[in-house]
Amino acid sequence: MFDPMLNLVRHVSLRQLQVFEAIARLKSFTKAADELYLTQPTVSTQIKRLSDAIGLPLFEQIGRQVHLTEAGRELEVAVKEMFGILDRFEMKVADLKGLKRGYLRLCVISTAKYFAPEVLGRFCQQHAGVDVSLKVTNRDRVFERLLANKDDLYILGQTPDREIDLCSRVFAPNPLYVVAHRDHPLARERAIPLARIAEEHLIMREPGSGIRDVVLQTFERAGLRPHVRMELGSNEAIKHAIYGKLGLSILSLHTLTQEGARSQLALLDVAGFPLQRQWHVAHAKGKELSVVTSAFIEFLDAEGEQLTRQLDKTRARLTRWDDSA
Ligand code: PGA
Repeated sequence: MFDPMLNLVRHVSLRQLQVFEAIARLKSFTKAADELYLTQPTVSTQIKRLSDAIGLPLFEQIGRQVHLTEAGRELEVAVKEMFGILDRFEMKVADLKGLKRGYLRLCVISTAKYFAPEVLGRFCQQHAGVDVSLKVTNRDRVFERLLANKDDLYILGQTPDREIDLCSRVFAPNPLYVVAHRDHPLARERAIPLARIAEEHLIMREPGSGIRDVVLQTFERAGLRPHVRMELGSNEAIKHAIYGKLGLSILSLHTLTQEGARSQLALLDVAGFPLQRQWHVAHAKGKELSVVTSAFIEFLDAEGEQLTRQLDKTRARLTRWDDSA
């Protein structure tokens, strides 16, 4: 079946349309050839091919003057529109390359929600045309999303132990502390053995939490069994349980950065603590990174220092044992 649109796509080139536009605007084959650095025979050939593909003449020469035919006038309108669209497209691409516009989909493991929104905020302040989305979920869901290529980047507490081909790099520390109510007698003790912590009620994160795994491994390696009083699925709920003096817990220092000097919480000085975990930024191997995504990875390196300073201040505010030293 004859499809005139397909016929044009197959036989008409952007170059021919550019030549046509120049002749229509300058009303001269010679001037168009000069403007485009082409020879006059080349210009004539391009227009002949274009007319043949369309099936109608586009120009008529009356005396020395070049005029558009009716088909030529129609084509002039269409070409102006097309080139306008292409111009705008080119500008958008230039913006994307220059980081003026773009989109970043970030997916982070639960505890990273304590800093990821602020980091994204600072990134967007530097790149006002960039839009972002943030998904916070547990480790299993993060890995599922990574395998399904749902997001641009992932922030993880550790690289996966299962078979996933990843590119990842460390950008900030994630120290884990034993945390108690500030009135707890252990809050002012130094070098508390882990065995002493195993005697206390412990509030544990839910199965699937990276922190839970590392806590359980730590006790196991020391040949100890923690006395788990309850399991809670959120760091905030755990903090409230500590306020309520239900027990101690092991938390990332990031969860405590909003606790002021008058906080009810205290870090304990336990031998072997803090457990030094690190934050990784990762993406599946082979993923094509956009300019925005690459810029965010770079940005995280600089943010790592800022996050470290924030952690140092939090540590100083929530350390009670120095008071009595
Ligand atoms: P979590 O992960 O919030 O799932 O415990 C944090 C981490 O792995 O360090």
